[in-house]
Amino acid sequence: MTSAEASAPAKVILTGEHAVVYNEPALVMAIDRRARVAVSTSRGDLVTLYSQRLKETARFTLEKSKNLDGEGSRNRRLLPYLTVARRVAQLAGYSGGLRITIQSEIPSAAGLGSSAAIGVAMSAALGKCLGIKLSRDQISKIAYQSERHIHGHPSGIDNLISSYGGLVVFRKNEGFLPVKSPARIKLIIGMTGVDRSTGEQVAKVAETVKEHPRVGQLLLHCIGHLTVETVEALRAGKIESVGRLLSLNHWLVNALGVSHPSLDRLVYASLGAGALGAKLTGAGGGGCMIALVNDKCKAAVMQAIQREGVDAIPARLSRTGVRFD
Ligand code: MEV
Repeated sequence: MTSAEASAPAKVILTGEHAVVYNEPALVMAIDRRARVAVSTSRGDLVTLYSQRLKETARFTLEKSKNLDGEGSRNRRLLPYLTVARRVAQLAGYSGGLRITIQSEIPSAAGLGSSAAIGVAMSAALGKCLGIKLSRDQISKIAYQSERHIHGHPSGIDNLISSYGGLVVFRKNEGFLPVKSPARIKLIIGMTGVDRSTGEQVAKVAETVKEHPRVGQLLLHCIGHLTVETVEALRAGKIESVGRLLSLNHWLVNALGVSHPSLDRLVYASLGAGALGAKLTGAGGGGCMIALVNDKCKAAVMQAIQREGVDAIPARLSRTGVRFD
């Protein structure tokens, strides 16, 4: 029996969600919350995939046709990860049994890249367990396959940042560049607790752009320019300016139809408590928002979000992408 364990970080999109789907740049940061996946080989050909958070197990074999729980099973939330297991096993020439356990500190369906972090950690752990060396790029691309099953046609930003870590500016058709800043980015994440699907939110934007192409395209370009300005402000250490751009991004993406009253409430509450900037993060429609804070306003912003009756957590940059634990 061989075994391996790997973990990968969650992310927050600082600027440019949705626009990134249309090949505009987006600024994304890995944060200090991780998904962990433990893998071991086992006798026979049964693969069991267990999620501690969902308390669910999916059972399948690496052979394409054998999905023992079936597409209609209550474990369908785990089924997208079959692609990851099958792809890595294929690269390693392995067809035996596996035990895979997922343990995650990342809330799911909240815009923090939980599914990508699981896919990334799983690819890495499986590769190591089955004796093949996968690059960060390969790991990211394998995880992109499960992302496609979950979200439809995602930009690939979530799997990329989870694999590499750090703070990067990303453009779908061009790749990514790390961003260095003398400023420390301190965030409070407010969780609305409203579940939503990324695929549905992306479809909503597509609908707006189709119905109002000139206005829709302008808004998307505008968000792209906003990302460029945010990168410049970060490089120059102008954190107040970054804050103002984040808030501006909230209202622009709001105009595309993907905010939610619960998000807007938290944005207003944060700004009222002195946050430098605040916006939804990820697909919107519920999920999470972020507030950019400094030491002076941090506690007040945290309390203001909690007073709205939801959870708030502090988050910092994680320079570490996927790693073996
Ligand atoms: C999801 O984290 C961000 C979106 O821009 C979708 C995507 O990039 O695939 C809404």
